[in-house]
Amino acid sequence: MISRKFPKVMYGGDYNPEQFPKEIWDEDMRLFQLAGIDIATLNVFSWSLNQPDEATYRFEWLDEMMDKLHANGVSVCLGTSTAAHPAWMARKYPDVLTVTADGKRRKYGRRHNSCPNSPTFRHYAKLMAGKLAERYRDHPALLLWHVNNEIGIRCYCEHCEKAFRVWLKRRYGTLEQLNQAWYTRFWGHTFYDWEEIVLPSGLSEGLSGGNADQTAFQGITLDFFRFNSDSWLECYLIEYNAIKEFIPDAIVTTNFQGNGTYKPLDYFKWAPHLDIAALDIYPENHTPESYMAMRYDLMRGIKDGAPFMLMEQSPGVINWKPVNPQKRPGVMRLRSYQAVARGADSVMFFQLRRSLGAYEKFHGAVIDHAGHEHTRVFKECAQLGQELRQLGSKLNDSRIKSRIAILFDWDNWWAVELGGGPSTHLKYLDQVQKYYDALYDQHYQVDFIHVGSDFTQYDLVLAPLLYMIKPGLASKLEQYVESGGILVTTFFSGIVNETDLVTPGGYPCELRPLLGIWVEEIDALFPDQSNSVVMEQPLGSLEGTYSCGLVCEVVHPEGADTIAVFGGDYYAGSPALTRHRYGKGEAWYAATDPCNEFMRQWLKQLCESRGIVPLCETEPEVEVTIREKEGVQFTFVMNHSDGYSFISVGEDDRKELLSGSTVRGSIQLEPKQVMILEMPVGAR
Ligand code: GLA
Ligand code: ZN
Repeated sequence: MISRKFPKVMYGGDYNPEQFPKEIWDEDMRLFQLAGIDIATLNVFSWSLNQPDEATYRFEWLDEMMDKLHANGVSVCLGTSTAAHPAWMARKYPDVLTVTADGKRRKYGRRHNSCPNSPTFRHYAKLMAGKLAERYRDHPALLLWHVNNEIGIRCYCEHCEKAFRVWLKRRYGTLEQLNQAWYTRFWGHTFYDWEEIVLPSGLSEGLSGGNADQTAFQGITLDFFRFNSDSWLECYLIEYNAIKEFIPDAIVTTNFQGNGTYKPLDYFKWAPHLDIAALDIYPENHTPESYMAMRYDLMRGIKDGAPFMLMEQSPGVINWKPVNPQKRPGVMRLRSYQAVARGADSVMFFQLRRSLGAYEKFHGAVIDHAGHEHTRVFKECAQLGQELRQLGSKLNDSRIKSRIAILFDWDNWWAVELGGGPSTHLKYLDQVQKYYDALYDQHYQVDFIHVGSDFTQYDLVLAPLLYMIKPGLASKLEQYVESGGILVTTFFSGIVNETDLVTPGGYPCELRPLLGIWVEEIDALFPDQSNSVVMEQPLGSLEGTYSCGLVCEVVHPEGADTIAVFGGDYYAGSPALTRHRYGKGEAWYAATDPCNEFMRQWLKQLCESRGIVPLCETEPEVEVTIREKEGVQFTFVMNHSDGYSFISVGEDDRKELLSGSTVRGSIQLEPKQVMILEMPVGAR
């Protein structure tokens, strides 16, 4: 019986040995050993190698490599190779090729080039996944499956158009319903036959220059985005089921792109079909640490707190930005621990050996073109590999507990940015990040939840820019607050239903009773303009005047208390921040986009009002998280700063797992230092 459990925090990454002569393979095994590598992702882009024509399959190279890896103690994350179709397939069946938003059918080339609704693609992808599963079902190296790669391209071909109509029929049942949902009396769009419906491309509803992300009919585009995410989910499931047919207990996943916030795929909808969630993350050197932290927390959130995989990161440089600096010494290790600290049960790279040709030949790799272990990057990788080996299974499957949650929603994200709103500068991720950062900087642990989650396990739920209210959400939030929860939401919330139709009767519509306000006007400010938020009276350390911008609303209280008012413009003196006591809880509303200082003080007050304490008191550059399992707590302390920092770890002796030493009291942290302190749950 093959164990499908991760025996430790898995360490390795994408490995493309098919690009190299076999003589190098044994040398790679030696280097993997040296680097502590125990997992290799194989076969991600080998479709054309495995299937040279329609009828022929050959896997000898893969057989040999799987055996070799096993003999060297390396497990395999097996790609299904469907992320780039073979050239012969495109030539013979042009329907595998995608059509761009401006209506051009692509030729064979690049990768991620298949149409998700192409019958050819689906047919051959299924066959390939099944053949691989049948062949390797009992292979001792096989640990898990990696379907396709960075799935999600949008296609505007006829197959997609037809499938869209079928999807719409399933969703709406009748054209009357659809016409209503899409508000088709606007600009004379009434549809009388399903065949009249075309994809909202740059040639149809796109507003300018072939751009299909800003369209005249947001309802249509919103449905197209949903449809595209669903189409790919179907493709994923075709391969998933083909694998499970042969290996019912297989661990199957796919690597999410876009640093964990990839707009085209609704991760929450995908999550139930992933046996473990996995993301690729490629920050730049100057990317703030909270950017990654938030995305790891989201990745943990999509499967209700379960550990996830860091499937790809670069051990050194990336190659696709205009300027690609090296990761500075110590940063790869530190950022790897950051992922683990927030719930990753693997640390994996793209890639293990650097390609010699084509687009990624200058992308970082564990083994560089020099081909040996005497490089800085290799040495740093090997150090981390040894550490993760020593940690063994200690951290695996440990969980993070939080009393604060951020409500995240892909439909809302799509809808709020489809255009026609107060400002194109209004971005959902920016708003979510802003609220996240105010908590991150103060060392509060945060979970991400979706509209279907159980809110009652949290004392504080933040729902920034909750533009779309899905059916049942308003009453769910009411119940949550009524029974004692604190809800925070912001300007431009409660505006539309799930088909992007405004709920009439005054903003924030369905949220109006809960928030106890009526928003009469929504004013937008240019990026260089600002207004101010003036506290009516101090709220803890929040007092005086703060700056704000982006959007300012004209709010009338309807039961809510005015906590702060605007300092300027024609709405000076009208509410900028309100609190509505509702049942045992409170519903807060920020009618503008306040400065970071205001955000920090405000959210701190809310936490304090519920007795939520930060994980520690230290500078924002020191990141702290806690993972727990079986009564044991692992406190991760990470000094992101280039200088020394201090942290107090309490008066009892604590075991530090990376150095093996015992620590207590106030500790000086070296630049980029990481500590993992083991202690009983609840200890400080
Ligand atoms: C993505 C892909 C990899 C590789 C890396 C390079 O994450 O999944 O195949 O192209 O980017 O950064
Ligand atoms: Zn298509």
